[in-house]
Amino acid sequence: MCGIVGYVGNDDVKEILLKGLEKLEYRGYDSAGIGVRGDDGVKVFKEKGRIKALREKVDADFNATVGIGHTRWATHGEPSVVNAHPHQDSEGRFTLVHNGVIENYSQVRNEYLSGVEFVSDTDTEIIVELIAKFAKEGTTEEAFKKALDVLHGSFALGLMDRDDKDVIYVAKNKSPLLLGKGEDFNVITSDAMAMLHLTNEFVELMDGEVVLLKQDEIIIKDDEGNVVERDSYIAEIDASETEKGTYDHYMLKEINDQPAAMRKIIQEYQDEAGNLKIDSSIIEQLNNSDRIYIIAAGTSYHAGLIGKEFFEKWAGVPTEVHVASEFVYNTPLLSEKPLFIFISQSGETADSRAVLVDIKKRGHKSLTVTNVPGSTLSREADETLILHAGPEIAVASTKAYTAQIAVLSILAQVAARELGRDTGIELMKELAKVTTAITAIIEDAPKIEAIVKDYLETSRNAFFIGRTLDYYVGLEGALKLKEISYIQAEGFAGGELKHGTIALIEEGTPVFALTTQEKVNLNIRGNAQEVAARGANVCTVSMEGLDQEGDAYVIPRVHSSLTALVSVVVYQFVSYYAALHRGNDVDKPRNLAKSVTVE
Ligand code: F6R
Repeated sequence: MCGIVGYVGNDDVKEILLKGLEKLEYRGYDSAGIGVRGDDGVKVFKEKGRIKALREKVDADFNATVGIGHTRWATHGEPSVVNAHPHQDSEGRFTLVHNGVIENYSQVRNEYLSGVEFVSDTDTEIIVELIAKFAKEGTTEEAFKKALDVLHGSFALGLMDRDDKDVIYVAKNKSPLLLGKGEDFNVITSDAMAMLHLTNEFVELMDGEVVLLKQDEIIIKDDEGNVVERDSYIAEIDASETEKGTYDHYMLKEINDQPAAMRKIIQEYQDEAGNLKIDSSIIEQLNNSDRIYIIAAGTSYHAGLIGKEFFEKWAGVPTEVHVASEFVYNTPLLSEKPLFIFISQSGETADSRAVLVDIKKRGHKSLTVTNVPGSTLSREADETLILHAGPEIAVASTKAYTAQIAVLSILAQVAARELGRDTGIELMKELAKVTTAITAIIEDAPKIEAIVKDYLETSRNAFFIGRTLDYYVGLEGALKLKEISYIQAEGFAGGELKHGTIALIEEGTPVFALTTQEKVNLNIRGNAQEVAARGANVCTVSMEGLDQEGDAYVIPRVHSSLTALVSVVVYQFVSYYAALHRGNDVDKPRNLAKSVTVE
């Protein structure tokens, strides 16, 4: 949420920042801005809306080689030019970009900044004024550090001082920020991906540190002011994977990436003998635990619900799945030997991190399952499993969901094997079948587009019903549909509808009924009849072997524990086409941002 870039070097910084911000736009796209420093001082360009609009506003003739940039997802203050970053103090000496939320901003304003006239509604302006105030009595570095000590909340900051030409001051707390190294230049970025066109060599930055980023050196200081030496690492990301190529949208590309992601997962989690493998330390932790607590948000939470099935049925470990933002403030009674599994595409979700920080204090073990190596949740958990799905850029998550489910299934299967439990499934073989089934659905996309025309073209709401695993897929289908098509959609357990929600069914209300589970096939079909009898336009999605005449779509047959991996692809396409037909911005839906780094 919100993206930051910064550069100190020799080249035209404006283009470098704009290019970086375009890559970071998935983190927020309400407004954007850059602050650049040239021989004629510092200049700030800001615009509401997308980077494209900002680009038009930037004065191409202003020469500058040092600068910071920001793309915003509004927290304090509406999206507007005034509230866009960078922010400057009233004397125009300091220029600041900020990602995060300052929790004690009104206290800071009252205690330190009475009399200052603020021009924006942001908490960021308070930070820059605070630094300006402290800088009257010391160096910029001292003022920066002093301000950091006063602030509570989450932040990643990049600061320029008009009077100190060639340095960007950098710090973070809870929010992600990386330092990037190059020949004759150095950068900061919220995500390695945004600077891959310049460098793939990065240095981690820790909470509490202060960094002086210069053209030829990066000086990192710890909380006590001691210089810290830290090795850099190479980000193994192929820059071409971050492009959408010939696809119209990243979401479409990422749906289509799923068979390749499945194959990659099978390959990565296989030993030389062709058996599934997971680090023994992870398996030991799992098999020594008396209960698994899965912590996640949104789509990752929905993947966790499917994962519970594997851990309980195959590995025999009781498993609870929790929404991270609730767990923090409403922690249930924990078992004696819990294992916490954090599922997160980005590895940066602030709500999940808040739980991780808390359970670490209590001394509990943790495992992060993420798509982003080196992400915060990965660094801070005891162990990590990588999804290997490749960069996911569309705001609506697709391939991360299926990759999460696949990796969780492998984890549970290996844990079960080590315990000598027979799961009754040859997982590798079944995952290979899943891959073929997903490919078949991708080839069938035009048929699903036609379904959208039949069921969703004019409707304002829709329901997704299912039982057991299909219920969880319905939750994901509804989330996907609402976030990009803006159709009000809800997922329900088929049997629960009668207990109130059926009152919402009217003539023509679209109801997607998913039926891939033999044991509840007739029950869910009964529930579909009940809503059809009240006027609903029922779209039944079933599986080969369980299908009946009149089903709108039939997915290829796969193992009953793995159907989510396949049926969800139908719902991904349903959402994609529904959004496309409404003329919505599929990859960047309104009000949203990928990587939610504020609580
Ligand atoms: C929905 C979506 C979100 C994320 C959620 C968690 O399409 O993408 O619901 O799943 O914000 O994000 P991660 O997985 O990065 O922790």
